[in-house]
Amino acid sequence: TVPVIAIDGPTASGKGTVAARVADVLGWTVLDSGALYRLSALSALKKGVADTDENALADIARQLDIRFQDGKVLLDNDDVTEQLRQEHIGEMASRIAPLPPLRDALLERQRAFRQAPGLVCDGRDMGTVVFPDASLKIFLVADVDARAQRRYNQLIEKGFSANLGDLLKDLKTRDDRDQNRSVAPLKPAADAIIVDSSGLDISQTVDRILTHWRN
Ligand code: CDP
Repeated sequence: TVPVIAIDGPTASGKGTVAARVADVLGWTVLDSGALYRLSALSALKKGVADTDENALADIARQLDIRFQDGKVLLDNDDVTEQLRQEHIGEMASRIAPLPPLRDALLERQRAFRQAPGLVCDGRDMGTVVFPDASLKIFLVADVDARAQRRYNQLIEKGFSANLGDLLKDLKTRDDRDQNRSVAPLKPAADAIIVDSSGLDISQTVDRILTHWRN
């Protein structure tokens, strides 16, 4: 079977960047599963579908016309890479993510990314639900202040405006929602290795994960 490295963790723990680098080093495919939730939110906004209409949201997820290419994300042939990172999209993604029909609709789409020679994926439930047989499961954590600061830097770098206090509050709300939802709550798989990246930069975190993979 095709090996999978599953990297789960809370919002702004650096999973996405780390997963992309690990995939790059190994020459594997990468799946940013959060992007699928963000794309569902964006598509729903565009189509005027309410964030409470779970069946319509599931239809949207099933019909998403998306392509990941050269670090860009295309939705209906439009480049939505920047738009996807906006806070209100992440916020809506977090509100619709608990809906079971939406999660079911995205399940097979996520599994289809498992292609030779291997897959690195990041999200909330990669090791617990989507790829329970993953070869290596990492649960990436960082303290909430470090995460808020990272998210702030990320937004400013992209030219968006941001407020550190608001981001911190928003992060805590999202942590709470991710951990306490009844469907696929955020928690480490029983066989996950916990990596705390609070004091590590990206390349140190990547090295840590590659070391676990090689051993
Ligand atoms: O940047 P951030 O970590 O907040 O978001 P993301 O990883 O892009 O995911 C967006 C939202 O989708 C999160 O708030 C999660 O609630 C949800 N999500 C999920 O439920 N399951 C996943 N595998 C990935 C994301």
